[in-house]
Amino acid sequence: GKSGYDHYMLKEINEQPLSLRQCTRGRVDELAGTVGDEGLDGLDRPDRVQFVACGTSYHAALYGASLLRAAGVQADAYLASEYAMTPCPVTSETLVVGVTQSGETADTLSALRIADDRGARTLAMTNVVGSSAARECDRTFLLRAGPEIGVAATKTFSTQLVGLAVLAEHLADAEGADPDLVTALRDLPDLAQQVLDESRAAEVAEEFDGMDAYFFIGRGLHYPVALEGALKFKEITYEHAEGFAAGELKHGPLALVTGRTPVFAVVAGDGALARKTLANVKEVEARDAPVVVVSDGSQEVAGYADRVLEIPESHPATVPILANLQFQLLAYHVADRLGRPIDKPRNLAKSVTVE
Ligand code: F6R
Repeated sequence: GKSGYDHYMLKEINEQPLSLRQCTRGRVDELAGTVGDEGLDGLDRPDRVQFVACGTSYHAALYGASLLRAAGVQADAYLASEYAMTPCPVTSETLVVGVTQSGETADTLSALRIADDRGARTLAMTNVVGSSAARECDRTFLLRAGPEIGVAATKTFSTQLVGLAVLAEHLADAEGADPDLVTALRDLPDLAQQVLDESRAAEVAEEFDGMDAYFFIGRGLHYPVALEGALKFKEITYEHAEGFAAGELKHGPLALVTGRTPVFAVVAGDGALARKTLANVKEVEARDAPVVVVSDGSQEVAGYADRVLEIPESHPATVPILANLQFQLLAYHVADRLGRPIDKPRNLAKSVTVE
């Protein structure tokens, strides 16, 4: 049942600290020591990694491809429905990873079969034991998020990001390995709990419902978070939402920005990436857009933001997971205020079994 929550989605959002803990159990220790893992044990470094996925899982794949490249592994993310049409280099040393919570998405299964025909090795990253993807791939990395009933993917997305961080660390070369990431993954469930306990997303939802459109922006690893923030938002609120790479705003989308289009930006870390996103925040603020910044406190954002959604400081690879929790709660609370059928949004299914 819903354990006292009005919707499965809210229950599942709140279960994420536990899901994250289950996902890292025995794996994060393995990175530091010798414990085996059923998904990655004995997996050699491939010549390249290609991710195939749809929707929310594709956003996870974009994050995974960035992390792998930072770890010294050639990696690209493909929309599963486009993979067949995309000529791309595949050898017997290529690893194709299907990121799919259900393990039953037709587009993703079809891409994995094409990868197999092209001679690649295949890995399913899925939440469902015995799913088609798990059965058909050479290897399976189980997310262990626990059952997800709400159509909107929440805890499966967060665990996908963790799984991809574990994969990146597993495949990293000597230069790319990052012991700080191991520590950050261990600390993540507690930080996630803190975000859930202290989130002001419900107040922000109250202030900004009924606007014309909602834009989400981020750079680097926060770009997939912007895309995911917008997808979740449109999926369950039925309001118009779009995610953009923060730097792309001035190349077109800025034409849409008005005083009735709130812009949600992720600004975290003390590097150039955060400073540049802040410059983009100033651009939208100058056009009167209400601005909500998801901030880890490392930049002074108060002067530019109408509202701040705080997250604790953490490793660059775990910040996206924490930032996304705020966007999940925001989408949930706006949808709830609008009386939407949150667990079963119109025209969508939990697993999409047609191409
Ligand atoms: C969004 C959502 C969908 C799925 C997509 C892929 O909340 O749930 O976008 O992410 O249909 O599903 P899986 O991961 O099962 O392959």
